[in-house]
Amino acid sequence: MTAATPHSADAALDPQDAVGLCLAGRISPQVALCRLLLGGADADAIAAQVEARRPPAPHPRWEALSGLLHGRGAMLAQLAGEVGRHGGNHAAIATPHAPPGAAAGPPEAAPPEAVQAAPSAAAVAAFFDSAVAFSPEASVALYSLGDPAILAQATAEIMDWLHRHGCIGPADSAPGALPTAVLAADASAGAPASGADVLDLGCGIGRLAIALAPRCRSVLGLDVSAGMVAEARRRCAAWPAIRIEATPGTDLDALPAHAFDLVLAVDSMPYLVQVGPDALAAHVRGAARILRPGGRLAILNLSFGRPVAQDVAELSALADRHGFAVEIAGERPFALWDAAAFLLRRDACAPVTPAPVAPAPVKPAPVASDAVPPAPTRRSPS
Ligand SMILES: C[S@@+](CC[C@H](N)C(=O)[O-])C[C@H]1O[C@@H](n2cnc3c(N)ncnc32)[C@H](O)[C@@H]1O
Repeated sequence: MTAATPHSADAALDPQDAVGLCLAGRISPQVALCRLLLGGADADAIAAQVEARRPPAPHPRWEALSGLLHGRGAMLAQLAGEVGRHGGNHAAIATPHAPPGAAAGPPEAAPPEAVQAAPSAAAVAAFFDSAVAFSPEASVALYSLGDPAILAQATAEIMDWLHRHGCIGPADSAPGALPTAVLAADASAGAPASGADVLDLGCGIGRLAIALAPRCRSVLGLDVSAGMVAEARRRCAAWPAIRIEATPGTDLDALPAHAFDLVLAVDSMPYLVQVGPDALAAHVRGAARILRPGGRLAILNLSFGRPVAQDVAELSALADRHGFAVEIAGERPFALWDAAAFLLRRDACAPVTPAPVAPAPVKPAPVASDAVPPAPTRRSPS
């Protein structure tokens, strides 16, 4: 198991200073701008903060940060307005110490006073319905700044990581080779006859499902937001291997046992954690049940706003309880996105924890009225 280790230079850095962290190489320029937005800065204030830190000598990281601002004034203004306008919604789904934002929020940026009651899954869904209508790219990753090219770059990093760890087929020691091929792939090539069956939990607009489809036998995307489901169905329509369905977001009991090789949760687990410990536990239990022996549960960000050690402890306890070995615990593998990564492998010998005898019906648009086979199926048009 690999675990997160703090950088020795961290002590000298102010965790609230997004520009300083970026200049020190600790976060990407994209994440720095995201943190400034989440901190309440508008476009002019962001530009002023960056300019105020102009180093006396040429500095590649400052140039990158400053360069990212060029031509983005209007979009940054809109994003800042959206973050401000939806302050109520953000707050409504915020947990103690959570940043007031939907995506990629930094733990350190959280004001301690942002203590809120736990939101319901419906409140989370309503928030994402609104967010996706404003900017699909920003709704799944605010650090994309609404730019499809930035989001594609982040998606490629994730695909590369999954591939290197053998989550979607034999591991490839050549980083970068897979994402390029995958992201350039053509839907008309169809799905491979063999390959992983993947559950993309909290699939958002379907960007990961589309990246996975050329390498996987099937991808089932589940999301609690009807707006996200509609957008993902529209974007994934060309891919027969992808199926997108709504979920009430409480558990995975509607899915069949031993049907998946990978359960992938990219920035969706923090919203389950916000709903409460039962939702996280139910999904880890469910993942253990629906994964085939040796299958993986990959989580990118377990929470927003908690120390990573707390996430490691909570997930390790759940892993023990449900027959997972923890392979990666909280390391930050990406250059662009600052996510904490967790990778669990389902023990080949662990007994399957059965789903409750009478599973709750899946509403409002059931994953299936009965069990959902992971094999590729055509969606009904949205
Ligand atoms: C920040 S977005 C990330 C979307 C996608 N994984 C990506 O990275 O592009 C979080 C997504 O999780 C979904 N979500 C939140 N809680 C959920 C739950 N309990 N079950 C399923 N989806 C959920 C949201 O609706 C939203 O689409």
